[in-house]
Formats: sequence, structure tokens, C-alpha cells
Amino acid sequence: MRNFNENTITHAVLERISGASDPRIRQVSEALVRHLHAFVREVRPTQKEWEFGIDFLTRTGHMCDDKRQEFILLSDTLGVSMLVDAINHPVPEGATETTVLGPFFVQAAPAKQNGDDISGSMEGEPMLVTGSVSSVDGRPLAGATVDVWHSDDDGYYDVQQLDKIGDLAMRARFHTDANGRFHFWSIKPAPYPIPHDGPVGEMLEVQGRHPWRPAHVHFMISAPGFEQLVTHVFVAGDKYLDSDVVFGVKDSLIREFAHRTPGTAPDGRAMDTDYFHLNYDFGLKLAASDARAA
Ligand code: BEZ
Ligand code: FE
Repeated sequence: MRNFNENTITHAVLERISGASDPRIRQVSEALVRHLHAFVREVRPTQKEWEFGIDFLTRTGHMCDDKRQEFILLSDTLGVSMLVDAINHPVPEGATETTVLGPFFVQAAPAKQNGDDISGSMEGEPMLVTGSVSSVDGRPLAGATVDVWHSDDDGYYDVQQLDKIGDLAMRARFHTDANGRFHFWSIKPAPYPIPHDGPVGEMLEVQGRHPWRPAHVHFMISAPGFEQLVTHVFVAGDKYLDSDVVFGVKDSLIREFAHRTPGTAPDGRAMDTDYFHLNYDFGLKLAASDARAA
């Protein structure tokens, strides 16, 4: 087969890959070719525009290493990460909704005890976080692993300023107590722009978009037999809740970070300054294999 033109090229490529022995590879490859060709037919790029597209993707790749993942940022800002999340995480009654992981998770977060202050050397408005972890039927889960991480009051994560602060802060790993509860102190996070000094930032600019995320605290919660939960809790009233650059906000994940005046905090700590209190009760769903057996 030869002499392909605009009308025959798609069919020719589909035919060429029709012999792939793995049916999933065949399905994904065929869909890729059909949609990519339909996109090109719709957009009708000039040769220069095609070159720009190749250069954009090349620069995106060059901006990826073990600290920066510009391709995931591209997926996040085009809504693809949340689409994949929605497809893979249906939420049964009682289960907490999921959202994007983001680039600032650290595998080996410092282990802390309930009640610890995880703000390290960071200054800001004190924040008490209390919460619980249960199964969707309301059974408290003791010993669940609760990873938390959040930005400082200027919107920077510890890993973005390690040169300045020297050590990880505003992140930790806790375990729930016998009643499935956890609590810790830190500082209240602020909204922040995602890294926008690369190709994704350029894209946002020309699309007329801002790079901001509303203030939030990240949680990753695991317990044996349950599906790992990756989510955030957003600060109610934040001005970016309806325009999160990565489309990650869900109503069920928004909470009041309640302003409290000096006095005895809910965990018994004597506070001589104002502080904020967030409480969130998380529901985990059974892991797929356990759900089938139940
Ligand atoms: C974050 O919340 O940490 C985040 C999520 C997606 C892209 C950039 C940052
Ligand atoms: Fe974040």
C-alpha cells in the first residue's frame, strides 16, 4: 500500500496495527490513531504549527526529572489527571472523594505521633487538624497510615525551599489510634501557583488562565484491605475554589478551617494565640478484591 492521502492515511495506519497480538495494545493504539488523526483533520495545522507542537512536547520532556514532572503537570492542567481519577475511583456512599496527588508528595515522610507539631522551623498561623478514618459502614480503623503534606503561608512546600529551611516540614506520617482518630498541629496553608516557569506555564498564559490552586491540606490514607485514599481538604471561602488550575476541587472536600481564639484547644493544649481548627472524617472503601469477597 502506498500513495496515501488525507482520505486514506487513517485507514492505512489502523490496518498496519490491527495485527497487534495484545488486544489492549490494539484497542489503545487504534483509539490513539483515530483520535489523533481526527484532531489533526479538525485543526489543520500548518507545518510551522506542527513543528511548534513537537517542540512544545520536547521541551516538556526536557523539563522532567526526579524533581519535576512537567508531563504530569500538563495532564493535570488539561483535566486529564482528574478524568483518569474519576474513571478509576467511583465513590460509594460513605467513602471520601479522591483528587490529584500532585508533585509534592514525599515517600519517606517523617513519622510523627498524634498531637505533634509538624511545622518544623516554619512560622505562620497555628492550625490544629483532627480527624478520623473509618470504613464506609462507619467502623473506625485503628492503625491506619495517614500521610499529610501542605504548603506554608506563602504557598511553598518544604521541598521547594529545602536550601532555605534545611529539613522537611509541614509533612508527616501518622497512625490512627484505637478509635481510628489522629490529630496534629501545623500552620495554616495558603493558595499557591503551580510551577509555571516551563512549557505548562506558557500554555496557561496563552490560554488566558491563571496558575493558582486554592489552599488545601493533602492526605494519603492506607489501611490493610482498603483502597488507598489520595485526596485533599480545601479551605472554605478560598477565592480559587471555582477556578483550581488542575480541576481538583469537590464540594465534599471543602471544610471550614474554623478561627478560634485563645483558650483550651480541643486536644487539651493551652493556646495563648488565635488558631485555626480543621476536622475531617475520612471514609475508606474496601480494596477491589476484598469488596468482591464481602
Ligand atoms: C498540589 O496540590 O500539590 C499540586 C497538584 C497538581 C499540580 C501541582 C500541584
Ligand atoms: Fe498541594
